Amino acid sequence: MRPLRRLLAFALVGAGCSSAFPPPGAAEVGAVKRRDPAARVENLEHGRALYLGKCGGCHLLIEPAQFAADAWPEKVERMQGERRVHLDAEEARDLVRYLVGASTVARGGGVDG
Ligand code: HEC
Repeated sequence: MRPLRRLLAFALVGAGCSSAFPPPGAAEVGAVKRRDPAARVENLEHGRALYLGKCGGCHLLIEPAQFAADAWPEKVERMQGERRVHLDAEEARDLVRYLVGASTVARGGGVDG
């Protein structure tokens, strides 16, 4: 099931479809909650909107699964510091939640339900 989903996501990128960045659902939230119990689907949705709005201006949007979930917090921090991407603390937290959840699930590490 999961490998098929990954393959499908890949095919859609090839077709130039924005579904490479599907809206977060229960699987993504569950994956984030393992380390961040306060996370809600609204936080991940907020993070996704920020990602689509703020992170594709200088380079193409990078698929969350391109990097392991653990790598994302530091990358977001570096973009803020070195590339002057402005995010307040809440925005940065939700953006990381989105990236961590999407990467975990896309890489097959999500929890069911
Ligand atoms: C002002 C321009 C700019 C914006 C906006 C920007 N980036 Fe970048 N980003 C860069 C540049 C330039 C590079 C390549 C050089 C580097 O790695 O610093 C890069 C590289 C990256 C990389 C690959 C390098 C690595 O660390 O592996 C990631 C991941 C990344 N950006 C994530 C993001 C995220 C997440 C955001 C939104 C918070 C973002 N970027 C917004 C300029 C930007």
